[in-house]
Amino acid sequence: MIFKCIFISIFITYATGQSTKSNYQYNEDHRVKEFPEPALNSKSDTNSYGGGNSVYFTSGLPINFDSRKKWPNCPSIGHIYNQGNCRSSYAVAAASAASDRICIQSNGTKNPIMSAQQIISCCYLCGHGCDGGSLFESWDYYRRHGFVSGGDYNSNQGCQPYTIPPCKLMNEKPPGHSCTTYHREETPICEKKCYNPNYYTSFRTDIYKGKYYKLSP
Ligand SMILES: *[C@@H]1O[C@H](CO)[C@@H](O)[C@H](O)[C@H]1NC(C)=O
Repeated sequence: MIFKCIFISIFITYATGQSTKSNYQYNEDHRVKEFPEPALNSKSDTNSYGGGNSVYFTSGLPINFDSRKKWPNCPSIGHIYNQGNCRSSYAVAAASAASDRICIQSNGTKNPIMSAQQIISCCYLCGHGCDGGSLFESWDYYRRHGFVSGGDYNSNQGCQPYTIPPCKLMNEKPPGHSCTTYHREETPICEKKCYNPNYYTSFRTDIYKGKYYKLSP
């Protein structure tokens, strides 16, 4: 989740860079404030096109952009994983971004939630399971081996759903599983099968695989 947020904020910073400083939504952000004064002088500088209710400058850069609205048939985009008391953010980030890309690429005809658990349990080069790991290696695992699907804890969704209980959210009423008081979870053992008894696709046919990946600075 952390990586996804970082990615999204980098994207937003990028997308709203140079010419969009005048947008009042970003005036509180000091990094954006440093950019030169804006190209938006009149309403005629903006256009409404593209997905959702995106508004664009005539330069082609959006003032705002919400990928959930741009791709409404891809509910995974708005889905937030709860990693529980496990340092699996690298796996959650890769699984989450892969879910979105599979859906966008298939124009919403495929919309799996990919399994973060498979990455922490089965990708030995990725790191140390619930003790942290590498986002880069997770993407390479997607290229070399591929990911299977797997939803949230108790979701009964996909091939390898998460078996680590979620951390209680800030506004959630008790009893919740507070991760400040629990010990770190053990990394689940790697299974080469779909352990969700209600999921009828085989492990091998459930695998989605990437061709290549590119990490941008
Ligand atoms: C993508 O999906 C939308 C919504 O189902 C549909 O209207 C559109 O024609 C599809 N585009 C392509 C290229 O198949």
